[in-house]
Amino acid sequence: MPDINSIVVLTGAGISAESGLRTFRAEDGLWEDHPVEEVATPEGFARDPALVQRFYDERRAQVRAAQPNAAHEALGRLDREFTGELLIVTQNIDDLHERGGAKRVLHMHGESLSAWCQSCNARHRWEDTLGDGPPCPSCGEAAMRPDIVWFGEMPYEMEPIFDALSACDLFVSIGTSGAVYPAAGFVQQAAANGARTLELNLEESLGSRNFDESRLGPASTLVPQWVDEVLAR
Ligand code: APR
Repeated sequence: MPDINSIVVLTGAGISAESGLRTFRAEDGLWEDHPVEEVATPEGFARDPALVQRFYDERRAQVRAAQPNAAHEALGRLDREFTGELLIVTQNIDDLHERGGAKRVLHMHGESLSAWCQSCNARHRWEDTLGDGPPCPSCGEAAMRPDIVWFGEMPYEMEPIFDALSACDLFVSIGTSGAVYPAAGFVQQAAANGARTLELNLEESLGSRNFDESRLGPASTLVPQWVDEVLAR
């Protein structure tokens, strides 16, 4: 097998499922309680800010109560021990990658533990509620929203992500359904640039056919095994 010098890992809600955080498109998925339009769009926030703030206040509390699982910790080990280029692009808004020891992480859909002031544009690490309209630490206005990329908004960090996809020789997708773009298109972008592609997922995803290899099973089993393989090379 050719040398591996540069890896891009894409993760989705499935990597945090075994930490007790609900995914989106399972039957008991997160969106089942609310139509996406109500809680994950700027229009929904404008229509009912209290509902949207409450939805994300609940998720922020769940994230704080959750613990990283063996998959997050394996990627933390990869980050520490892999001497090549590594970028972990996550669609998740939890901080379990960081608490699992990973440092080279980009949150393309934002972070539940970040608040974004709509008055002065400042962003602040935020662990409490926003529904009660706390003043922005920078400008004092009660104008902070969840720092989450909603449908119709531009994902974060797309330039460094595309640069990494163009340069990597291995692209690994973990725990994502391949239902939402632009993340669902990353595998084709990587493959077009000559990267090998591997999917680690509980079940076949919408994009499985685009991967050179697809391994089915829980992330807490598949990810440590894969990290062992990479570090043993
Ligand atoms: N191990 C590995 N994979 C798992 C596990 C597990 N324990 N549990 C579930 N999965 C897989 C599911 O089979 C599914 O393919 O994780 C995937 C989760 O898919 P989604 O619920 O669609 O979540 P995700 O792909 O992250 O959604 C992408 O959509 O709603 C938006 O912004 C939201 O970031 C999210 C984006």
